[in-house]
This record gives sequence, structure tokens and C-alpha cells, in this order.
Amino acid sequence: MDILHVSAECYPVAKAGGLGDVVGALPKYMNDLGHTARVVMPMYRTKFLYANEWQVVHKASTNMGNWWFEFTIIKEKTNKLGFELYLVDVNGLLDREKVYGYNDDNERFTAFQICVLDWVNTWAKKPDILHVHDHHTGLIPFMTKNCLKYRGLSTVKTVLTIHNAQYQGWMPWSKSILIPQWDMWKWGMLDWNNTINPLASAIKCADKVTTVSPSYLQELKWMSAGLEALFEYEKGKCVGILNGIDAKVWDPETDEYLQHHFTEHDYEAGKAKNKMLLCDQFGLDYDKPLIGFIGRLVGEKGADLLPQVISDSFYFVGRRMNFLVLGSGFPEVEARLSALKPLSQSDYNVYIGYNEGLSHTMYAGLDFLLMPSRVEPCGLNQMYSMRYGTVPMVRRTGGLKDTVIDFGDVNGYGICYNHASVPDITHAVWRAAEVYHDKERMKTIRQKMMNLDFSWESSVKQYIQLYSSLVTQ
Ligand code: ADP
Ligand code: GLC
Repeated sequence: MDILHVSAECYPVAKAGGLGDVVGALPKYMNDLGHTARVVMPMYRTKFLYANEWQVVHKASTNMGNWWFEFTIIKEKTNKLGFELYLVDVNGLLDREKVYGYNDDNERFTAFQICVLDWVNTWAKKPDILHVHDHHTGLIPFMTKNCLKYRGLSTVKTVLTIHNAQYQGWMPWSKSILIPQWDMWKWGMLDWNNTINPLASAIKCADKVTTVSPSYLQELKWMSAGLEALFEYEKGKCVGILNGIDAKVWDPETDEYLQHHFTEHDYEAGKAKNKMLLCDQFGLDYDKPLIGFIGRLVGEKGADLLPQVISDSFYFVGRRMNFLVLGSGFPEVEARLSALKPLSQSDYNVYIGYNEGLSHTMYAGLDFLLMPSRVEPCGLNQMYSMRYGTVPMVRRTGGLKDTVIDFGDVNGYGICYNHASVPDITHAVWRAAEVYHDKERMKTIRQKMMNLDFSWESSVKQYIQLYSSLVTQ
């Protein structure tokens, strides 16, 4: 099967979160099964762009409303990522440093989608599947079915994967002129609550919709930032497929970012050395358990609760553990976490920013990883941490619920709690501090986690089955 993934992110080219990790891995595993999966994404100004060689594969001009512009599609020459990677260059619009966060993101991603479809429209043999990811590429299923100029693509099947339904790409109706001439009778397929809603449109128009875990799909029916009724209505074409992790990148035995490697058979010394590195770098006490947080400092991740959880833990549980936070996001949360630093007694530190290398050392060197998410469509951090022998402390929601079993339950290995609330999380911290000193139990837990299989192999097969159900119809 011939699959084209259309995405705003793809690791290691550009990554803002888990979407990048998934799009950087999934096609590789599809190709391993003998399919042809490619990726097309915007050409941002990234290190990867300048460090690699590219060949121009398509050059044309197009329009978005009454704005005419030229675009170029370039391909990475060697397929070094394990798949063909294409970048769309639109001068001044896509070639920026950041992936998101500009005032004209609506225009940027609409232009990107137009360029992709203009290009695919010229292919002699069309792909079997256009696989779009999140709202940034959500207009594609509508456009292939309803835009005059894409009639040649109307039989190409489309699949939408929802990595995060909190962001929907809303656009006022005044921006409808950005979309190439379309059948006006179909306005309802773009609309949700009197705005153009690219995510809602993709849910309506795509042939199949997947979410990145089964539990998340259930939750969306009662909590999806306004789309609850739509998920209920469209449930027949929705399916939850749990993400995997790229076991080739996230392997403690070979991880390029780690100074000290280890395996599931001999992890104690390796983990200890990584912990020592972190303790030295951040002025922490090696003898105490090290609890970390890695992620976007936003409400979804429960990051706003961290400052209170940390101070309550020190007060109620005692100064029996270290906390180390890595992340960036809401300025108030960043400021409150930084404000705790002077209160540290060699047991707290925070690194504000994005640091891929540090995140790997943390997965390897932490004893516990805290994930008090309010919403977690899948979550990759808990799977990385388990592969690296670090015990996840997760709220039972979305993909966290689907991947972690509490160590108090049969065959369990993690720490779970029900509410994203300061008392529940603080209680989890107390449990971590207690179990840490039970060396035998920690050993059993670590061994169990490190032997779990979260690789992409089984999830990829589910995607392929889903594609087949469309193509053979
Ligand atoms: P989300 O995509 O919602 O942010 P995921 O758990 O799916 O959550 O993926 C987050 C990814 O981003 C992981 O690979 C995690 O290690 C990485 N990450 C998040 N914040 C940072 C940071 N500040 N520095 C380094 N890596 C980070
Ligand atoms: C999103 C979700 C996260 C998921 C990731 C990859 O960013 O917030 O839970 O793991 O996408 O699918």
C-alpha cells in the first residue's frame, strides 16, 4: 500500500511534542512491513534542513484566495529516516524557526495543505491513503472531496489521526476564501458552532478516524472541547490505536544521548551513573529518590499543580525525595517553578526550556516520572520511562490508563491515581518515597517494566488493517 503522511511535525526534523515522535516512527515501521509510507511536512528553518542534502522534486505556483505564490517541494536525498521525506517550501510563510505560535498559523497551514494537494494531484499514480494528523492538516479530507481542482483525488481514501483534540484550528468564516473553490452546498462539512473548524471537518469528512489510545476515544465522547456530540455521532468510523515507541531511538543500550548505557539485564550501575550525572548537574542528593517531570508546562499536563505538589510533599511527606522538572510553557507556571529554587535543600531544581539530550538522561537517571495529566491522548513519556526502568506516576486518564497498571494491582508496575489534584498527587509522591526503600520490590517493578513491549509492531499492523478495510472496499 502507498501511504502519504501529512503532518506539521516529524522527528528529528521538527518536533514540538509527541506528534513529531509518532510521525517520525510510524512510516518507518510501515515500510518494514513492505508498504511505501512517505511523509510530507512544511519546510521550517531547522538544523536538520541545513545538515542534509535535498533535491527539488516539484516547483509550481498556486493561490490561496487572491494571494498567488510559488512553492517548492524538496526531498531528502538518502531516505536516511527510513522513509521518503518531503518538505514544502513557501517563502516567507513556512520557512520560519518555530513550528507553531504565529498569528498567521491559519494561513500557514492552509497554504501547506493546498501545496500538498496541488502536488499529489500531479502524481500519475495517486497514493492509496492520505493520512493526516491533527487539525493542521484537517482540511485535506474536505478539500479532496469538495474542491473542484482536486477532483482527481476524490477517490483517494483519507485517514485522520487525532493526537490532541484540545486544539482544533478554528478559523472565522471570513477565511473561507482561503480554501480553493469548493462546493458551497457543503459548508456544513467545514462548520462547527459558526466557525470553520478544521478538526471537526476532518472528523466529518475522513474515511476513518483514529485516536492515539482506546481510552482517549471513549473520553472524547464526554470531554473534547465542544466536539462531544460529533464524536458520539461519528463513532462508527472511529477507532483507538495505541501509539508505540520507536524502540530503535529509545533504547537505553544504544541511545545516542546517553553517556552511560544499560540493558534490562544489567541496569543498576547504568541507571545509577545517569542519576549521579543529574544530581551533580542540578545539585541534588543522590541518596534520595529522584522524581522528575518532563513536558509542556500547560494545564493539560497538570503542570500548574507541580509547585503546590512539590511544596506540599516537602511539608507533609518530608524532605525525603528530590524533584527535577524539565519543561517550558505557560510563563506563570515557569515563574512559579523557578521561584521554588531558592527554597531547595539540595532536593529541587528546574530547567526551563526544551532539551532533547537532558530528557533522555532524565528518562534513564530518574527513579520516578510524574505525569499528573488532566488530558493525555496517549503520552509517550511513560512508555519511554518504563523502557529505561523509571517508574511512571500517572493519573488514570487516556493513554496513561491504557499503559500503566498500579504496582498494588495484579501484575502491576507503576503508581496510579484518579484525580489531577494536589492531595492525590502528593499521596502518590508518598507512595514513591516509601516503595523506593523496598529494594526487592523496586527490582521486581523495574524488571517488569523494562520487559514490557510498547514497540510499534502491533500498532502498525492495526493501521494497516484499517487502511486495507478502506482500499479493498
Ligand atoms: P505531548 O505531545 O502532549 O507534549 P507526549 O508524551 O506524547 O506529549 O510527547 C512529549 C514528547 O516531547 C516526549 O518525547 C518528551 O520527551 C518531549 N518533551 C516534552 N517537553 C520537553 C522538553 N522540555 N525537553 C525535551 N523534551 C521534551
Ligand atoms: C499529543 C498528545 C499526546 C500523544 C501525542 C502523540 O501531543 O498530547 O498524549 O502522546 O500527541 O500521539
